[in-house]
Amino acid sequence: MKVLIVNGPNLNLLGSREPGIYGSETLADIYAMLEQHAQELGVEINHFQSNDEGELVRVVGSSVQADYDGIIINPAAFTHSSVALRDAIAACGLPVVEVHISNTHKRENFRHISLTAPVCIGQIMGFGGHGYLLALEALEHFIKTDK
Ligand code: DQA
Repeated sequence: MKVLIVNGPNLNLLGSREPGIYGSETLADIYAMLEQHAQELGVEINHFQSNDEGELVRVVGSSVQADYDGIIINPAAFTHSSVALRDAIAACGLPVVEVHISNTHKRENFRHISLTAPVCIGQIMGFGGHGYLLALEALEHFIKTDK
């Protein structure tokens, strides 16, 4: 089983970015935890981060041809604005789990809407970096049982 982890804009700054909201874990810390858990589950993972909407659309759009079975995505600010990323998720036809480090419903109104969540199989938010591990477990279970 092969899973792609996609992170959107400013998530490269985790660790120093608004630690009161996003905590002190870096993206490298999260990838290390994910890698360990993926090995335990027997899942191969690759990860990609970009601040560029077009790059994210391209990577999601080419995920089927790259033989992925599913995607975990934190679209970051594009969650609330990107029709193009939503369409790419819908078009790829793979099961996609949306992750947010913070609970966006506790924050500004503009963060309460996700354009991408309706084309994902589910959403996990508010558990910090641990949410990515929960997403990996949920996606692995979904692929194993529902595909
Ligand atoms: C975020 C929440 C978004 O609203 C914000 O724009 C981000 C991070 C999160 O993981 O909590 O960049 O996706």
